[in-house]
Amino acid sequence: MRAKRRTLLYGAALTPVAGVLAACGNDQKTAQNGGGTTFISMDSHRIDEAEAVREPGTVREFELTAAPATVDLGGTEVDTWAYDGRVHGPELRIKKGERLKATLSNDLDEGTGIHWHGIALRCDMDGVTGVTQKEIAPGETFTYEFTAPHPGTHWYHPHTGYQLDRGLYGPLIVEDPDEEVTWDEEWVLLLDDWLDGTGTTPDETAAKLRDGMDHGDMGHGDMDMGGSEEGDPSQSVLGEDAGDVEYPHFLINGRTSADPDRLELRPGSRVRLRVINAGGDTAFRLAVGGHRLTVTHTDGFAVEPVEVDSILLGMGERYDAIVEVGEGVFPVVAHAEGKGAMGRALLDTGSGSDPAADERPAELDGKLLAYADLSPAEGTELEPGEPDRTIDFALTGGMMDYDWGINGRQGDHEGMYPVEEGERVRLRFRNETIMWHPMHLHGHTFALADSGVRKDTAVVLPGETVEVDFTADNPGRWMVHCHNLYHNEVGMMTLLGYLDPDGEEGTVLGTE
Ligand code: C2O
Ligand code: CU
Repeated sequence: MRAKRRTLLYGAALTPVAGVLAACGNDQKTAQNGGGTTFISMDSHRIDEAEAVREPGTVREFELTAAPATVDLGGTEVDTWAYDGRVHGPELRIKKGERLKATLSNDLDEGTGIHWHGIALRCDMDGVTGVTQKEIAPGETFTYEFTAPHPGTHWYHPHTGYQLDRGLYGPLIVEDPDEEVTWDEEWVLLLDDWLDGTGTTPDETAAKLRDGMDHGDMGHGDMDMGGSEEGDPSQSVLGEDAGDVEYPHFLINGRTSADPDRLELRPGSRVRLRVINAGGDTAFRLAVGGHRLTVTHTDGFAVEPVEVDSILLGMGERYDAIVEVGEGVFPVVAHAEGKGAMGRALLDTGSGSDPAADERPAELDGKLLAYADLSPAEGTELEPGEPDRTIDFALTGGMMDYDWGINGRQGDHEGMYPVEEGERVRLRFRNETIMWHPMHLHGHTFALADSGVRKDTAVVLPGETVEVDFTADNPGRWMVHCHNLYHNEVGMMTLLGYLDPDGEEGTVLGTE
């Protein structure tokens, strides 16, 4: 007998499985009698049960409107799409264990949704249109409501087409009432690569990439920085190909370096930087002129504090760092790795004059944080244990055919890699391409297998293998994807599906 079949709520119909059942990992086994495999449905009571375990606290309400807007990026006006008419969108701030309730009004002329990056939330609030919910149609509203179990520096953005590479993104800060780190001032820094409204759009850019137009010829205006030295690939720790898209601007907090964002504070203050890479196709190397950074968190999770000169952030990654600010005006620089340009902001203690717009702090070439320098802070580790299931993800494809994929497959919203609730799962990302990829998992945080550091997005360099472990404790259908938007949208994505005997039949991946 087949398991009960429910109507699919969302997304495309799934192809019935022809007698293939995934057992552990990539062990390929064929089911005896051609029975289907069933995955959790999006209206499963198990999603409600998982939410109940999170013990919802105080409700914090927010309203956001996504709409076309004309925005001044600091001397450059662009027509774009933004939340509440500004880039970046408003900061949403709650405390650990509180419930966020955010109503999104869609005044765009296409469907949208919001994904809450970094939050292990209930699956039906994950905001992946076509998977966890229907698109919110133009003129409609949708209310997201979920408990945030983990504190940290997170962010929100659409998971619909190329919308993220417009102005649609903002910070989501979940404060930790039991924080051990202390600081005087806090500064949230959103790093972004920008092209929307400069004579092109993300959708046009994507179309050119898919048509195989040489990325060296992508249309772009003047670089922001006087010091627009051509990207010297040999300088990049990411390999020869740091990105597919050339952007005319690099922004910190929605400002070009011509008219930078500025934090005024007293000399000697300890400032906590919460840095978020909201870019579409750019890794940023962040440094503060004349200062070292004490890194305290990555992707929201505390690490043993470590002092470095600069940090590299792949798209989707976050780092928190403490800086004890001297006297003067100091550039906070986000160097677009391998692209030869920078965005900047200023730390200003009220004396001295602004550094030149093209000043390149020596710290950019100093000690760069590596994952190997990080170790998990006490209390952030996963329970000790060996993986019950290992899933191999070969990162495949390339620039020429623009066929970025996982295991040679350009993912759509069909087919899932099965996981079972309660398992310890290992994801093994093996990068077979000549480009780097920041790989992100929804609905969970993983631990880097080497060090135990908790994260939700991990950079996988060309030729490298990165293994990450997580506990399958959040029933649902969850994306795993490259956070390079242009890679994700052509297919460097897939889904993990929790098995559920009462669920819906679906195509099982990992058994090819
Ligand atoms: Cu920043 Cu799939 O998300
Ligand atoms: Cu990628």
